[in-house]
Amino acid sequence: MTHFDVIIIGAGAAGLMCAIQAGQRGRSVLVLEKSNKAGRKILISGGGRCNFTNLYTEPDCYLSHNPHFCKSALSRYTQWDFIGLVEKHGLSWTEKTLGQLFCDQKAGAIVDMLLAECREADVKVELNSEVDTITKHSNETTDDASQQFTIITQERVYTANSLVIASGGPSIPKMGATDFGLRVAKQFNLNTYPFTAALVPFTFPEKELELLFRELSGTAVDVILTVNNTSFKEAILFTHRGLSGPATLQISSYWRLGDSISVNLLPEHNAEDWLMDQQVEHPNAELKTLLARALPKRLAARLCELFIASKPMKQYTPNELQTIATQLSEWELKPHGTEGMRTAEVALGGVDCNELSSKTMESKKISHLYFIGESVDVTGHLGGYNFQWAWASGWCAGQYV
Ligand code: FDA
Repeated sequence: MTHFDVIIIGAGAAGLMCAIQAGQRGRSVLVLEKSNKAGRKILISGGGRCNFTNLYTEPDCYLSHNPHFCKSALSRYTQWDFIGLVEKHGLSWTEKTLGQLFCDQKAGAIVDMLLAECREADVKVELNSEVDTITKHSNETTDDASQQFTIITQERVYTANSLVIASGGPSIPKMGATDFGLRVAKQFNLNTYPFTAALVPFTFPEKELELLFRELSGTAVDVILTVNNTSFKEAILFTHRGLSGPATLQISSYWRLGDSISVNLLPEHNAEDWLMDQQVEHPNAELKTLLARALPKRLAARLCELFIASKPMKQYTPNELQTIATQLSEWELKPHGTEGMRTAEVALGGVDCNELSSKTMESKKISHLYFIGESVDVTGHLGGYNFQWAWASGWCAGQYV
């Protein structure tokens, strides 16, 4: 059989969820996947344990040129729906931090669960099938909805009434990830936003790497990181290439080339009050000793070697303490770039949401053409939000294809 009611390009999170829903509705469904495994990004996600959703999923955890677009899908297929599916399959989960749910049985169990649901819904998944060419027939004026699209892989030619683009984003190109979704959208004259790396570590000029980052490589510290009026309170991690850790990945989605980031190294305190308290309580102690109680020792020592002149607390004037407070709570770092798609967890950009129905994910201009998951201009924060978008957008399209 080479004709299907629905063909879905991409057996990732969004594509498999869409396939399950469409199959359950009795549609004949084929999923075409270029790689030799389904759900490869699921398999490597969450350090192998798949952070599959977040208890606190809300639309404001997503970036998009149209921040309202994701609301409908997220409210119709919620984190609780996916948790229900996981539990129906006898899988258990653990909340690590900040509502992030990880699968106790490892990421492979999530892929197995989705493939089991596909089998039950009579969905055909064809691996090693990269789609090269898509054409749409111009018989829309007739009532005959059959054979709307022709889809060509290296091996075969297929036809389908509905076509769903679930080809993800270009992060981790060594896995074969590309901007295929954007190319399809452009082919049909849909507006798109270029993909750019998000949830990605920062890089710094060689001089700073030498001076600061390599010395501190492996040091993690809880901070508040701020850029362009957006802040995240989580850990940063110094590495030999620059800055990583959850707060860094989060803020990278809001950072633009040329921006400085502001680091508050004392997130639990008002820095000036804390310094004045230390002066009263420990007048003879050196600042670097006291800083080493609030910060990792190596970081406290390096800050005092490079930026802050350490002396006994009683010797500081109020003005000096104020300056140090600013250095500690508004430490400016200027990345010169990011590690790019090579290590990015996701990509900002994608098909312009205004081209799609937020209810069905169908193109407003090209009937029966759908875009879901990361190919759409909706990008979540770190912490399970991107999978929740993939499940929700896939579920919505699956109700209508
Ligand atoms: P996804 O990329 O999953 O699937 C697209 C599929 O389409 C791929 O299998 C690809 O091979 C296939 N394809 C592409 N072009 C094709 C073509 N022309 N023909 C046929 N097939 C084609 N998110 C989260 O919420 N929690 C987490 O723990 C993590 N962890 C994580 C770790 C790492 C290392 C990365 C890189 C990413 C994450 N993510 C994450 C992000 C998450 O993986 C991502 O948001 C989803 O996988 C997106 O789902 P999609 O189905 O849209 O694309």
